[in-house]
Amino acid sequence: MTIRFVPIKTVLIVLTAATLAGCATQPTTLKEAYKNDFLIGVAVNQKQFSGEDRRGDPIIKAQFNSISPENALKWDATEPEPGVFDFTNADKYVAFGESNHMVIVGHTLVWNHQTPRSVFQDTNGNPVTREVLLQRMHDHIQTVVGRYKGRIKDWDVVNEALKDNGELRPSPWEKIIGPDYIEKAFQYAHEADPDAELNYNDYSLENQEKRDGAIALIKKLKADGIPINAVGLQGHLKMAWPTVAEEDATISDFAKLGVKVMITEFDIDVVRATQGNRTADIEANARLVDGANTYSNGLPANVQQALADRYAELMGVYLKHRDVVERVTFWGVTDGDSWLNTPGRMNHPLLFDRQGQAKPAFDAVLKAARKPAGN
Ligand code: G3I
Repeated sequence: MTIRFVPIKTVLIVLTAATLAGCATQPTTLKEAYKNDFLIGVAVNQKQFSGEDRRGDPIIKAQFNSISPENALKWDATEPEPGVFDFTNADKYVAFGESNHMVIVGHTLVWNHQTPRSVFQDTNGNPVTREVLLQRMHDHIQTVVGRYKGRIKDWDVVNEALKDNGELRPSPWEKIIGPDYIEKAFQYAHEADPDAELNYNDYSLENQEKRDGAIALIKKLKADGIPINAVGLQGHLKMAWPTVAEEDATISDFAKLGVKVMITEFDIDVVRATQGNRTADIEANARLVDGANTYSNGLPANVQQALADRYAELMGVYLKHRDVVERVTFWGVTDGDSWLNTPGRMNHPLLFDRQGQAKPAFDAVLKAARKPAGN
């Protein structure tokens, strides 16, 4: 055997090149890491899409390729009084998405919250008739969806129409129009932009009772020829709920119906007092806040790690279903932005801390993308 002398400089050049090549294949941003799997979105607030959040904006631009409006496209924002429209914030939101080449989501057209009471009343304060309310719904959807036709690619048409037991939620929509308000909303949205992707969006669909209700609803919509493309699993999840098996089965069940799945409002509540409650229902969780350990001095290292592990296992489920999962959207940029912070309850549910630093959960989500599917 001949031993050839290789100059140390050559060895160093080869090693450096190999290291650089290795780095080049390891994405450092979420959108890059998941680019072959699904969109990585984030909900943005008014300061962010107005360019006033110097901490959040660089993170949004670097990490995400889709945005959702946390509040700017809700009914109370776009049509504060019947027939009076205000697109000041909505226009800024859409412009922000376009200038950053992002897929722009619309949230939400018909919901029981953040809809002015005047929508359901005449000028004397009496309930309007079915015909009047249908007309108002039609005009709202036509005006809002029509304004952003071809620019907003996917819409949460109806939001949270079901109770935790899977039955239709009583709401002024349901009471005045009847259960077919859901079908009408999808029809109007389709008329306004036939190319937009239309979603039914809800929380706690991982729970069997509510999931069964949603499955029945989607089956009926499809049987009636209503254009529905996707179900949005909001993904307001907790440390132990739902289990990986429940999340997995939920996506499989909806995929079987022939709809796509979006994870539309992903965050993980890490405050202990709410952990026992198997729901994302806002009122039910609010009742459990008293006496909670809120980790007001920050998350202890073991809890940071547990949160990171939890994010990784859930991303693993979404990756496993990447044939049907089109988008995973986080509901906020930093922990300080989260709706889960309420007076007396400081939460830590997202990937970036209050200073805008990436948490171990961020690294875990990034790393999860590098694992082959099913592992
Ligand atoms: O706009 C007013 C402002 O004028 C006023 O000064 C301020 C005082 O508190 O309140 C502002 O409105 C708040 C609004 O967020 C904008 O910041 C509302 O009080 C507050 O209730 C509202 O909360 C939003 C919540 O939906 C309302 O239901 C959260 O930001 C938003 O993250 C949350 O998002 C929902 C999804 O749309 C649907 N799924 C559940 C999810 C979490 O609740």
